[in-house]
Amino acid sequence: MNIAIVGAGGAVGREILSILEGGALPFDNLRLFGSARSAGSKMPFRGQEIEIEQLTHDSDFSGVDFALVSAGGSTSIEYADVITRHGTVMIDNSSAFRMDADVPLVVPEINGEDALKAPRNIIANPNCTTIQMVVALSPINRISPVKRVHVATYQAASGAGALAMDELIQQHADLVAGREPHVEKFAYQLAYNVIPHIDVFTDNDYTKEEMKMYHETKKIMHSSSIEVSATCVRVPVMRAHSEAIWVETERPVSVEEAREAFMKAPGVVLMDDPAAKAYPMPLDIAGKDPVYVGRVRRDLAGSGLAFWTVSDQLRKGAALNAVQIVQCIIKKRHSA
Ligand SMILES: NC(=O)c1ccc[n+]([C@@H]2O[C@H](COP(=O)([O-])OP(=O)(O)OC[C@H]3O[C@@H](n4cnc5c(N)ncnc54)[C@H](OP(=O)(O)O)[C@@H]3O)[C@@H](O)[C@H]2O)c1
Repeated sequence: MNIAIVGAGGAVGREILSILEGGALPFDNLRLFGSARSAGSKMPFRGQEIEIEQLTHDSDFSGVDFALVSAGGSTSIEYADVITRHGTVMIDNSSAFRMDADVPLVVPEINGEDALKAPRNIIANPNCTTIQMVVALSPINRISPVKRVHVATYQAASGAGALAMDELIQQHADLVAGREPHVEKFAYQLAYNVIPHIDVFTDNDYTKEEMKMYHETKKIMHSSSIEVSATCVRVPVMRAHSEAIWVETERPVSVEEAREAFMKAPGVVLMDDPAAKAYPMPLDIAGKDPVYVGRVRRDLAGSGLAFWTVSDQLRKGAALNAVQIVQCIIKKRHSA
């Protein structure tokens, strides 16, 4: 099996490389791609160095079984044909194709079987905040169908890419040195601030990030009746997104039922002991794979449940989920 990573030098690409380094997939050959900016530079992998190739319209992907693509939506749109034309399956981390009817949108714990129906050889990785939320909603949904979700997110700087992480570090350094902080990747200074604005605003005054959570949840969970109202907020955290979630189900689910379901759910870790001050926080969860759930309680303002989740969006929200999609396809092909 041969693998390619497109956008290998980016925040998600580097995380994919580290997951592959850990042995998540068996493969014979690994190729790395980037833009002209990083082409020719080398990335270490298992004691060797792999050179980054420039992605062009002449790039030859024949013989590549899976391409894990994290290079932004416009690159995905421009090069999808180049990548898939010889049968390579493209796992795309951008939002470019997520809502296309003939492109599956997959979280393996929930709808892994959808990955086998990819007529364009493109499979979309959902938005990072959506992945984290649906992994936590799914065990509740199995007890009683989820009707309504309210969610407020607290999203890390790394969600905006490698340069955004650098910008947050630099802003702190500038402020300590008494300099005006440089602002480019975010709408405002993020250091010592929170910004209720991720991606562009849409006609209904929600942002595109918030509308991704609305639309993608329905597609992944195969339910047109789940309604999601999100407020997405950037916070000065380096890595791992947090979400406060309020959920209503067709029949009320008790806190005890929910806790038990979270404990059994694949990809979920329940960390919920208020007396011991045990609840997930980004500092502790960065670099880890599961979606952590805590603060499970009855919603005092409704008939549902309230809880808190934290997950490293570079892992489960992007790189890990993409690798798990490949693992899921290989497993299903072998058992077919
Ligand atoms: N960061 C997250 O938490 C996260 C989560 C889920 C999904 N995503 C999505 O994943 C994608 C990548 O995000 P990121 O955070 O990794 O961004 P990033 O750190 O800015 O990295 C972008 C990567 O894309 C490459 N690239 C840009 N234009 C290219 C081109 N024309 N041809 C080939 N490579 C090109 C860059 O290569 P050069 O360095 O060579 O220019 C770089 O390696 C985006 O679509 C993003 O929405 C990100």
